[in-house]
Amino acid sequence: MDAMLKDQVAVVTGGARGIGRCISQALAAQGATVVVADLNAEGAQATANEIAAATGARVEAMGCDVSNVESCNKLIDDTVAKLGKIDILVNNAGITRDKLLARMAPEDWDLVLKINLTSVYACSKAASRYMAKQRSGRIISIASVVGVVGNAGQCNYSASKAGIIGFSKSLARELGGRGVTVNAVAPGFIQTAMTDVLSAEVKEALLKQVPLGRLGQPEEVADAVLFLASPMATYITGQVLNINGGMAMQ
Ligand SMILES: NC(=O)c1ccc[n+]([C@@H]2O[C@H](COP(=O)([O-])OP(=O)(O)OC[C@H]3O[C@@H](n4cnc5c(N)ncnc54)[C@H](O)[C@@H]3O)[C@@H](O)[C@H]2O)c1
Repeated sequence: MDAMLKDQVAVVTGGARGIGRCISQALAAQGATVVVADLNAEGAQATANEIAAATGARVEAMGCDVSNVESCNKLIDDTVAKLGKIDILVNNAGITRDKLLARMAPEDWDLVLKINLTSVYACSKAASRYMAKQRSGRIISIASVVGVVGNAGQCNYSASKAGIIGFSKSLARELGGRGVTVNAVAPGFIQTAMTDVLSAEVKEALLKQVPLGRLGQPEEVADAVLFLASPMATYITGQVLNINGGMAMQ
């Protein structure tokens, strides 16, 4: 079988490690040319080199700070200048700054909203200009189960992730006529650096809510993103794909 994403150009924000790294790897393994974009420019370069060596695909690294709208514009414009186009945008970069609301400083609110949500606005706006012109494209943003069901201590994070879901549904309606699909993926608790910091008690309590009885692996999220980016998902837009071991069912 031919590689599913041959001749496609993809940008993955926060691609240096964790889920973003696995997404970059999965897209490259299907023949896409991938831009690994990350605040950690050195990490992005190392990841790009490793994925290129493992898959034989062209993989570029670009430093960028998605909390800065100018930096998002530059990422997308530089991608098109260097690689000729952009077909797939994966908005993956995200952070947590967990606190109960009573103790949440305005800076914790602003930073999480900027990095997790304003980035999705900025990168999607910049990419959709090119995608609408070429009348094809895929925008896939990483939300979270927490954006669907909420979580104490994560008002900022869950607001940003719920925001991604509303944003994606609205943009799907705006861009449908241009052949561009817009979807969100909502992972549950996935084994990465982001969840390694949780205490054993918190993890145990979480796992009681997961019918499959384990944390998810980043590769399992990457597979869902690959599906939405692939020719198998041509009639899917405005959807939220939950990858959560059954933790929340809609
Ligand atoms: N791990 C989970 O359980 C889980 C669950 C649901 C959703 N998610 C979401 O999946 C995405 C990836 O999470 P992860 O667990 O792989 O996290 P991670 O912390 O392992 O990786 C995040 C990456 O984003 C980069 N990044 C952070 N701020 C950035 C910025 N301003 N500009 C550019 N890059 C930046 C980091 O350098 C890092 O490489 C996030 O959006 C996260 O909210 C994760």
